[in-house]
Amino acid sequence: MSRSRREFMGALLGGASVAMLGGCTATRSIRQDQAAGPVRRSVTSLAPGSPILTAYQTAIARMKALPSSDRRNWTNQARIHLDFCPHGNWLFLPWHRAYLLFFERICRRLSGMADFALPYWNWSVARRVPAPFWSGQLLDRNRLATPASVADPAAVGAPVLTSILSEPNFEIFGSGRISATNNQRTLSSYGRLEGTPHNYIHGFVGGDMGTFMSPLDPIFWCHHSMVERLWISWEFDRRHANPRDTAWLDRAFTEFCDENGNPVRVTVRETLAYPTTYYRYDDVGPRAEVAGVEAPRSSATSVAGPLDVLQRFTASRPVVSEVGKPATIRISTDPGGLRHGDRALLVLDGVSMNHTEDFSVRVFLNHPYATADTSPEDPHFAEAFAFFHHEDAQHHGNRGTFVLDISDALNRVGAASGTLDVLVVLVPYAGRQLKTRTLAISAAEVRVVKDAVRQP
Ligand code: C2O
Repeated sequence: MSRSRREFMGALLGGASVAMLGGCTATRSIRQDQAAGPVRRSVTSLAPGSPILTAYQTAIARMKALPSSDRRNWTNQARIHLDFCPHGNWLFLPWHRAYLLFFERICRRLSGMADFALPYWNWSVARRVPAPFWSGQLLDRNRLATPASVADPAAVGAPVLTSILSEPNFEIFGSGRISATNNQRTLSSYGRLEGTPHNYIHGFVGGDMGTFMSPLDPIFWCHHSMVERLWISWEFDRRHANPRDTAWLDRAFTEFCDENGNPVRVTVRETLAYPTTYYRYDDVGPRAEVAGVEAPRSSATSVAGPLDVLQRFTASRPVVSEVGKPATIRISTDPGGLRHGDRALLVLDGVSMNHTEDFSVRVFLNHPYATADTSPEDPHFAEAFAFFHHEDAQHHGNRGTFVLDISDALNRVGAASGTLDVLVVLVPYAGRQLKTRTLAISAAEVRVVKDAVRQP
């Protein structure tokens, strides 16, 4: 949608000549927008040699040249991620938001470009690692992806993003809760944004991106700028609610440093103001760049808070899926227990996490013969998910919980017979030497939940 809007505006205004638009209302709001700060743009909208990409390269070169005693040093920045990044819990989004903001400020300071803003890689539209990232400072030689590798639409395609942005509950959208006293790296559950496209892109690019030193790859920052863009769109364009729990809002992070290399302390509550204060995106959010063209507004509202679970159907027998040999998890439901129109989540528990760069996973319902070649457009396809995990599992254990939405697939295929067959298909990343070929899941549960809000 944003893309066609941009094309439309481009045709209407002749690209960069937006400022020449006659109407005074539009002119005034363009000036306000310019005063409103740096704009994070799509990498693929930037011309080769654009000032933003040049500044990014300069900043990287200068960060690499800083002594290791300087917190802004390139490797030290990546180590912040290695040592502190929360994954698989509801701190995932705000932590990476703050991490990006301070990194962006360091880039601005070191490049000397006063309005530098981190571009984003829209992997949903541009499914290859963008061309500028294959040379100079933007290249990472350890990648497993090649310039020809194309990301899987089952994990990053437009229907996947539309569905994720329609998710009303923060914990299913942006990963599950932990308590105020839990260590920030405590695993809860992977929400759909983190567990599906976010994790997938880490494994797809591979190399440094497949590990917790992933910020060594300059594409990391543009990947997370895209994740940030989706959170902003979810909150501001789709009007969903962030958590209101103090266990989330008052969580503080002390591991970041500012553009002078001094430590800073930020709380989740403070990060909520960043998108209206420090930067904006070209096509989504409260101050989308093109004046007079509003980002899509939905009338959706959602209630923040834990989900209301009406019914649970559990299968606790462990299964192992192999590449080329999918496993089926059979879940018995009461006859008539799953009704057409129910909102249903599939929770996969104890999913082994040692497979970060080998394959992603597609889940089908009531399809006895699905393979890695079965199209995600097949009506039985439910959702995909992927892994992103440090090889050394010391902080996390090696098991994860994924929460998927199977409502639409369930409505297509039905579950009237009193059993639901969940088929787990491993889909190797193209052109990889696989190190692992199996995936274990210890338990599965279908939860019928009360649907606070569902998009029409
Ligand atoms: Cu903490 Cu995508 O990484």
